[in-house]
Amino acid sequence: MLSETQLKELAAQLQKPNGENAIEVANGMQATNANIIARAIAAINPQPGDQILEIGPGNAGHITTLPQTAHYTGLDISPEMVALAQQTFSSRPNTVFELGNGTTLPFANGAFDKVFSVNTLYFWKDPAAYATEIARTLKPGGLLCLGFIPQSTMQHIPFAKYGFTHYSQEQAAKLLESASFRTEAIDTTTETIMGNAGKEITREITILTAKSDSR
Ligand SMILES: C[S@@+](CC[C@H](N)C(=O)[O-])C[C@H]1O[C@@H](n2cnc3c(N)ncnc32)[C@H](O)[C@@H]1O
Repeated sequence: MLSETQLKELAAQLQKPNGENAIEVANGMQATNANIIARAIAAINPQPGDQILEIGPGNAGHITTLPQTAHYTGLDISPEMVALAQQTFSSRPNTVFELGNGTTLPFANGAFDKVFSVNTLYFWKDPAAYATEIARTLKPGGLLCLGFIPQSTMQHIPFAKYGFTHYSQEQAAKLLESASFRTEAIDTTTETIMGNAGKEITREITILTAKSDSR
């Protein structure tokens, strides 16, 4: 069992992988979250030529499942993750990684057809403002997909009391609606995985899909 200090450290690493453990943490997340990431990608239904933004890709190992002719931008607040992903995918066409500040998005209005983000919602500092930023960078009618572990599960995860904001499906949908998104679908399913704390857990995962205002 992890001590409270270890749980705090794990929570901080999940929020922003850093230091000598960053790569190990990133590889662990990629394995733990493979299913929810795959579902989020399926929900945006990537097409050749799409301009796609991912917020918080970690090591970005999953981008091999995107069409190479889709233009992919990965934005992460962890310099270690940006450097790792840049190195891994240096020869992949149409692929860029940028360092974000967690508050604003360094992109033009209407730059993207589709945005997805898995397991970052808990860490948004000003959630309404960040959702509004995402809406700004999407084309009118563009698609946003958030993958997250809902509050019903999060409240039982020991490390998730440190620095995570928990959302029910309804709260997450309301947040996006406050930024002029229209909810398209909310799918929650259950999976059993080896959790980040090294213990098998059964958890709910939610895929929330919304469209930016097309007016
Ligand atoms: C819990 S990890 C999730 C990584 C991957 N998406 C997954 O589900 O396995 C969160 C990742 O998002 C990044 N991150 C956290 N908050 C962010 C924010 N507000 N904007 C961009 N990236 C963020 C972290 O640095 C980290 O790489």
